[in-house]
This record gives sequence, C-alpha cells and structure tokens, in this order.
Amino acid sequence: MQNSVVLVTGAAAGIGAACIAAFNAAGWNCVGVDRTYPSTAARLASPTVLCCGGDVSRGPDWQRWLDETYQQYGRLDAVINNAGIAGPICDFLEYPDDAFDAVMAVNARGVFLGTKYSAARMIAAGTTGAIVNIASNAGLAGSPRIVGYSASKHAVIGITKSAAKAFATRNVRVNAICPAPTDTAMVRNLEQYSSAEQVRTALTAGTPMGRYGEPAEIAAAALFLSSAAASFITGAIVPVDGGSVA
Ligand SMILES: NC(=O)c1ccc[n+]([C@@H]2O[C@H](COP(=O)([O-])OP(=O)(O)OC[C@H]3O[C@@H](n4cnc5c(N)ncnc54)[C@H](O)[C@@H]3O)[C@@H](O)[C@H]2O)c1
Repeated sequence: MQNSVVLVTGAAAGIGAACIAAFNAAGWNCVGVDRTYPSTAARLASPTVLCCGGDVSRGPDWQRWLDETYQQYGRLDAVINNAGIAGPICDFLEYPDDAFDAVMAVNARGVFLGTKYSAARMIAAGTTGAIVNIASNAGLAGSPRIVGYSASKHAVIGITKSAAKAFATRNVRVNAICPAPTDTAMVRNLEQYSSAEQVRTALTAGTPMGRYGEPAEIAAAALFLSSAAASFITGAIVPVDGGSVA
C-alpha cells in the first residue's frame, strides 16, 4: 500500500496514535487529526505524518482536513473514525442531560460527519476507499452506568451499517471495530474511582483472555479492514475483544 493515504481522528493518543504507527510502518502516508493539535496543519512527527487540529463534531473542520489531505497527498484511501470520549460514569437516573449531548456530539455526530464527508470526497474522486469506525463492546450491549457512551457506540454501529449499504456500489467500504477495554488513557482515567488493580479486575471480568487489549491490536484490525485484503468486507462489526462476545 505504498503511497496510500489514511486520515485518523484522535491521533494524538491511545488507539489513534497506534493506528498512525501501524499505517506508517506499512508504508502509508498519514493525516492525524486531534483536538489537541494546533489548527494549522504541520508535520509534527515525521515527513509522512501531517497533523491537523480541530473537533470531529464540526463539519467545517472536516472540510478543512479533507482539503489539506488532497492538497498534500492528492488522494485519500482510508479514514479511521477513532476520536471518542467516555463521558461520566454514574447511575442512569443521575446521568446529566448536557453530558449525554456532549458524548453524542463527539462519538456519534463526529463519526457521522467523518463518514459522510470522507465518502463524498472518495466518491467524487472516483477512487476506492475504506472507512473504519471505532465503536466499542458498549455498542453491542447495554451499559447502565455509561448510558451516553453506550448509546453513542450503538449509533456508530447504525451509521456503519447504513453507510455500508449506501456506498456498496460506489467503491467505499465501511466497517466498525468493537474493542473491549484497551490499555489507554481512557481506561487509566477510571483509576481515579478506585485502585488500578480493582479497575483492571472489574473491566477484564467479561474478557475471556483476562487482560486489556493493546492499542496496537486494535490498530492491526483497522489496517487490515483498510487494505485491499478486505476488499469484499463491508458493513462488518468486528469485535477485537479477547473473546468478550464469544
Ligand atoms: N480504551 C478503551 O478501552 C476503548 C474500548 C472500546 C472503544 N474505545 C474507543 O476507541 C477510541 C479511542 O479511544 P482511546 O482509548 O484511544 O482514547 P484516548 O482518550 O486515549 O484518546 C482519544 C483521542 O481523541 C482525541 N479527541 C477526543 N475528542 C475529540 C474531538 N472532539 N475531536 C478531535 N479529537 C478528539 C483526544 O484528544 C485523544 O487524543 C474511542 O472512540 C473510544 O471510545 C476505547
């Protein structure tokens, strides 16, 4: 896949950073976007990684990132809609209204915009493309203490399946990955609620392999789904979860 180009959201940390590393190692040029990056596009890390700041829930930011991508590289082959936030953890009845909107804005609206605007550019360019949306195992079953997060990840699966059908004859494949708890800041932030050991035990209780996923293990699945080897796979919801849904 030499000279192929991927855009990864939430690229500054965790699974997004692992995606940049995996695609770069496989010879792809990468556009990393993150709300923590400066708004002016810059090659912060390497000649083959362009970094752009902004917010996935804002349509104009998507247009700017896609403009930058085509200006810099002249093509776009894959998009990894990875940026996400956890939101609060609390009893369903205590979940704040505003927090629900904030989580849906990033996790659901952000993936909708990323899928829509990216697919539009790929279709207009007449090229093949792959979109990989990072959902969660919380998108496959109810999670009563993180209702906003769980709702947003169910939405990601609905967006993925709908887009897969919408673009099936237009050469754009759309798939989703459902990770189980993975060793990133998102999980480590939960350690404020109790000890690291207690958090790890609770979060891996439903994972037969008995451990967190590694960001590189999620990135490897994203790379496969973006590659020509996955050319007949679209609309798939792929658990990468140590057997959690087995
Ligand atoms: N870590 C896990 O256990 C786990 C499990 C299942 C699914 N996921 C999903 O994987 C994805 C990545 O999670 P992670 O654990 O790497 O998280 P993380 O918190 O380590 O990193 C998320 C990155 O996204 C960026 N970001 C957040 N909101 C943004 C916005 N509005 N616009 C642009 N960038 C934004 C952050 O700045 C950060 O760099 C998320 O969608 C998350 O829901 C994570």
